[in-house]
Amino acid sequence: MAKRTITFVCQACGAVYTRWQGKCDSCGEWNTIAEETSAAAAAPAAQRPGRKGRLVALESLAGGSRDAPRTASGINELDRVTGGGFVRGSVILIGGDPGIGKSTLLIQAAAAMAGRGDGVVYISGEEATGQVRLRAERLGLSAAKVALAAETNVEDILATLSEGPPPKLAVIDSIQTMWTDAVESAPGTVAQVRGSAQALIRYAKRSGAAVILVGHVTKDGQIAGPRVVEHMVDAVLSFEGEGGHHFRILRALKNRFGPTDEIGVFEMTGRGLAEVANPSELFLSERDLGSPGTAVFAGMEGTRPLLVEIQALVAPTSLGTPRRAVVGWDSNRLAMVLAVLEAHCGVKLGGFDVYLNVAGGLRINEPAADLAAAAALVSSLAGAPLPADAVYFGEVSLSGAVRPVAHAAARIKEAAKLGFKRAVCPEGGRDLGEPALATSPVGALAGLVADIAAA
Ligand code: TYD
Ligand code: MG
Repeated sequence: MAKRTITFVCQACGAVYTRWQGKCDSCGEWNTIAEETSAAAAAPAAQRPGRKGRLVALESLAGGSRDAPRTASGINELDRVTGGGFVRGSVILIGGDPGIGKSTLLIQAAAAMAGRGDGVVYISGEEATGQVRLRAERLGLSAAKVALAAETNVEDILATLSEGPPPKLAVIDSIQTMWTDAVESAPGTVAQVRGSAQALIRYAKRSGAAVILVGHVTKDGQIAGPRVVEHMVDAVLSFEGEGGHHFRILRALKNRFGPTDEIGVFEMTGRGLAEVANPSELFLSERDLGSPGTAVFAGMEGTRPLLVEIQALVAPTSLGTPRRAVVGWDSNRLAMVLAVLEAHCGVKLGGFDVYLNVAGGLRINEPAADLAAAAALVSSLAGAPLPADAVYFGEVSLSGAVRPVAHAAARIKEAAKLGFKRAVCPEGGRDLGEPALATSPVGALAGLVADIAAA
């Protein structure tokens, strides 16, 4: 027996209220709370006896893991992020700004899979099939055996999909345009998005098809509306890029079946997205050599080494409280490095604005970037360029010591491959082996600061 209940739901974060109010207490947004009607199950639990399920022994499933039921997309940079391909019956949410290239990436992946004989369905709720075809033509994929449909009603989509054998992959572009008969609100509302996602997830688990949901992102970078959907799906990927740059980064924010620290790098070209097999070359391609305040950081993204330039500007301030602005790195880490420079290295920055930028729109999460950031800051303050053939990595502790970081050998090897001659790195790293290039170990940040100032 279903009873209609009226609730008030924030369209930005999904928080539920019993009364309308102007501001959402949960996410702080104004005017996002809307009335929704839902059919809630009113029957007390005792009235309906539970249906017996089937329990299976974990060990009886053991053989399955050997050939993990994955289908590779054939696009290496995408497979690296998913952890080797799409898992049977799993659901992936892929978010990103409008126009970043989500539809392009997915039609390319769909075509690549179809090209190897896997059944692929691409359902567009935003474009007519003719428009999807036009895009495919532009990408040189018009002969691909991808089944297209322009649909927005989930029941219709499920009916279409259940004709014939289930596809290996179904792409739903986008979840915000979908609506289900089970929910009585407008498409795009949290209730509709949640209801549609639930139905599509049930379909994936039942049929074994992998389902990809495309999600739009709001101005502050959240996947619009359905934070709840992020918890329901198996993996959440985010497709990012900087305005003005043509490369794009695919990143896993959540992944039940694979790593979350791998990134995939693409370049948007006139003929779709091209894979970038060696991102370091790309990120260093716009380096301006010989100017103070830049250091090359030898970083790691998952299992792959990645070289990127860190730029710093230290300039006298005219403000009472100097500015600290950082793009692509953690502002707390910057504050810490500045404090260590002040306390242990005699670098006084109280009268200076400090700006730090990771070139190319990359976002770094590693503490190993501390040393490169410190080198760039000191170089800018001293007006002394760092050697152009050196890379930097190492974690700085609050005591001013430089600590070893993981994968030192891989970082150094990548730097050698790109023609660097010297690595400024922590003392006593264990996994160096026979380093591929000259190393200048530093034990304390103060030592490095003295070197730069003397140069
Ligand atoms: P699209 O995949 O439609 O983005 P999304 O689905 O994330 O909204 O990408 C659209 C943008 O990509 C558009 O600005 C044009 C550009 N683009 C290219 O530069 N080259 C191409 O081959 C294609 C298909 C698109
Ligand atoms: Mg699109």
